[in-house]
Amino acid sequence: MPLNDKLGRPLRDLRISVTDRCNFRCEYCMPKEIFGRDYEFLPRADLLTFEEITRLARILAEQGIRKIRLTGGEPLLRSDVEILVEMLAQIPGLELAMTTNASLLSRKAQALRNAGLDRITVSLDALDEATFKRMNDVDFPVQRVLDGIRAATEVGFSPIKINMVVKRGINDGDILSTARYFHGSGHILRFIEFMDVGATNGWRMDDVVPAKEILAIINAEMPIEPLEQNYRGEVANRWRYRDGGGEIGLISSVTQPFCSDCTRLRLSPRGELYTCLFGVTGHDLRPLLRGRASDEELADQIAAIWHPRGDRYSEIRSSETASLPKVEMSYIGG
Ligand code: GTP
Ligand code: 5AD
Ligand code: SF4
Ligand code: SF4
Repeated sequence: MPLNDKLGRPLRDLRISVTDRCNFRCEYCMPKEIFGRDYEFLPRADLLTFEEITRLARILAEQGIRKIRLTGGEPLLRSDVEILVEMLAQIPGLELAMTTNASLLSRKAQALRNAGLDRITVSLDALDEATFKRMNDVDFPVQRVLDGIRAATEVGFSPIKINMVVKRGINDGDILSTARYFHGSGHILRFIEFMDVGATNGWRMDDVVPAKEILAIINAEMPIEPLEQNYRGEVANRWRYRDGGGEIGLISSVTQPFCSDCTRLRLSPRGELYTCLFGVTGHDLRPLLRGRASDEELADQIAAIWHPRGDRYSEIRSSETASLPKVEMSYIGG
């Protein structure tokens, strides 16, 4: 029996943020003016243990979760994260994916593969060195991300999805060069509209480059045609190059929201469940997890959180909602 929310949306995907730390300071996510270089992150004892995460994942799998995505912050900064992957991979019927900035991927790719990770998505906002460094704001070179993508490909993670958040006046000039670079590579480049996540990224509608505009830029040089969704509720709209150069995706949560099919539940590093990326507060499961609650009690609690869910933030977004307090994406995961 699928667990449906108030709007009839089943619980299908779980996104687990394994750490609130990141070694990048992308201005659209963790701007340095707010987070600094040495932002005070959660103490280790506050993080859920791998055992606690796996227990919750097991209970959720029984309630209909079919895909787990590990995120952060930067998930590869969580020590021994491959051990968590190995533990989660024991749960039957789950697809296991990770979104990473790839800064540590060259080193970790083989271990992640061996542990049973199925898929990897890499964030990469520009190929131009100066633009990329401006965006990550920690002087991180593009080549190391490309090395990470190559290492992951070599150990069998292919195709890899590449996430590029587009911000007007910052990296919109890189749309075509990045498309050309990944054309024919076998990887899937996805352009993401800059969103008003969190309360720190100074979002303005003027900074959003609408998916339509991105498509027109690409289509003018490399003609594309639409593809069917892979599954109901898929976040990206799929397109393919007419010359056989492969697939791209457009994630247009600002200009074409996809809340009506949103099946995603998010688990914070501390054990709070968020039913929307734009949530203000989560539902803290730690008292149950660290008390003596049985699996059944936890399952009941999760059902009680999912049933009344009516979130549809992207559909009701306005200039007023943009400035409301919201959970940070670096905390709850991309
Ligand atoms: P697969 O289809 O399994 O590859 O995953 P995905 O398309 O969900 O990709 P991913 O998890 O990498 O999400 C890509 C980006 O889409 C995220 O980094 C966010 O910017 C955006 N996104 C993902 N989920 C949501 C959501 O629930 N709401 C909104 N508004 N944006 C989302
Ligand atoms: N808008 C859109 N996507 C964002 N991400 C983080 N912040 C934003 C934002 N403001 C997503 C990116 C990145 C992932 C980790 O989180 O897709 O690849
Ligand atoms: Fe950038 Fe991802 Fe780190 Fe946020 S979590 S600062 S998007 S690398
Ligand atoms: Fe789902 Fe909230 Fe994103 Fe809408 S805004 S798709 S409800 S997470």
